[in-house]
Amino acid sequence: MITTLAVQGYRSLHQLVMPLAPVTLVTGENGSGKTSLYRSLRLLAATSREGVVEPLARDGGLERILWAGPEVISGAMRRGEVPIQGAHKRHKPVSLLLGVVQDDLGYLVDIGLPPPSTKTLFSHDPVIKREEVFAPPLFRPASRLVSRKGGRVITHAGAHTRMLEEYLPARTSMLAEFADPEQTPELLNLRRAMAGWRFYDAFRTDVQAPARQRCLTTWTPVLAEDGRDLAAALGSIRESAWAGPLDQAITSAFPGTELAVDDADGQLILRVHQPGMLRPLTADELSDGTLRFLLLAAALLSPQPPGLLVVNEPETSLHPDVLPVLADLIVHVSKRTQVLVVSHSRELIAPLKDAGGEDTVIHHHLVKNLGQTRIEGQGLFSTPRWEWGSR
Ligand SMILES: Nc1ncnc2c1ncn2[C@@H]1O[C@H](COP(=O)(O)OP(=O)(O)O)[C@@H](O)[C@H]1O
Ligand SMILES: [Mg+2]
Repeated sequence: MITTLAVQGYRSLHQLVMPLAPVTLVTGENGSGKTSLYRSLRLLAATSREGVVEPLARDGGLERILWAGPEVISGAMRRGEVPIQGAHKRHKPVSLLLGVVQDDLGYLVDIGLPPPSTKTLFSHDPVIKREEVFAPPLFRPASRLVSRKGGRVITHAGAHTRMLEEYLPARTSMLAEFADPEQTPELLNLRRAMAGWRFYDAFRTDVQAPARQRCLTTWTPVLAEDGRDLAAALGSIRESAWAGPLDQAITSAFPGTELAVDDADGQLILRVHQPGMLRPLTADELSDGTLRFLLLAAALLSPQPPGLLVVNEPETSLHPDVLPVLADLIVHVSKRTQVLVVSHSRELIAPLKDAGGEDTVIHHHLVKNLGQTRIEGQGLFSTPRWEWGSR
């Protein structure tokens, strides 16, 4: 299980350390930093597979996503005695830090820019300055298991160190490069875990939405990010151990409704039998709310569950009556998959707490203070300790 997430320097996430539970609900007003949190997690997962350049380019580039506030916020600025100010020119080197603690392993990555002295056409392309795999709870020089500085990768076993690589490419993560279960099982474990994280962001439900189209008849244990293979994913769940929970969720959300997935010449059609209807409705005829509920159910009940499932704003266009059913479903799957729900409304928290209790569910409400995202009510003692170390 992932217990802690840490971000420094990603948009409004100037410094954020967040404890996670089997179910974590993150809420906040517009502009409080919810999407930034979602994206920083997605970036962390992508970096472990693809390195830094492409994922950051998809995000708009390093310069744009770096914290744009002052490097240091003084006490006088906090008290409002002086305006927020700081040199526009940076004093410290560019640094975006992402970290996670999962089970008995901690990982952090420090992303920056090539040294100004390097002659390169790509001086704005991000590079990985440092990576650390450490024994939790905290990164310390003594808790290092594998570390990377520039191109050098070193494993640590007590006082013994061994160089694994001297010239690791600057844009590649060491997690992507070393997959030897004998030499570096930690790297393999972390990469497998992080590569499996799954992200679903506000599914489209408009007339042209991919989820409303037919799809190929193939076993689909993982719903596509845009939901284009919804019928195949639901069909696959119905042939798995999760058929019962799926049917139960649909009946609780929409009493009397039954789902069928039919094959028509190699293409799958979703048919939804609703009470009072003389014929079943197909995916292109369903209401936005019904379609979105089916998409969420398909994502949650995947027969190939990921370690972490992150869902952005699932409540959009759902009827409030359906939220408790969604909450039940989230708590049900959290026994095998950790779930992080990013939501605009606090309305989900009551049904989630009812379904899961305080041991299973944690709620973080984000607020913005002096341009920085903070967790409401988080103080010195409730903030998990975190150390980044230095380059
Ligand atoms: N580079 C940056 N540095 C600091 N703050 C930023 C940066 N880019 C965007 N922001 C701010 O981050 C805030 C959070 O945005 P976002 O995560 O999209 O909020 P939400 O999803 O909660 O509505 C916005 O208010 C925006 O002003
Ligand atoms: Mg948002």
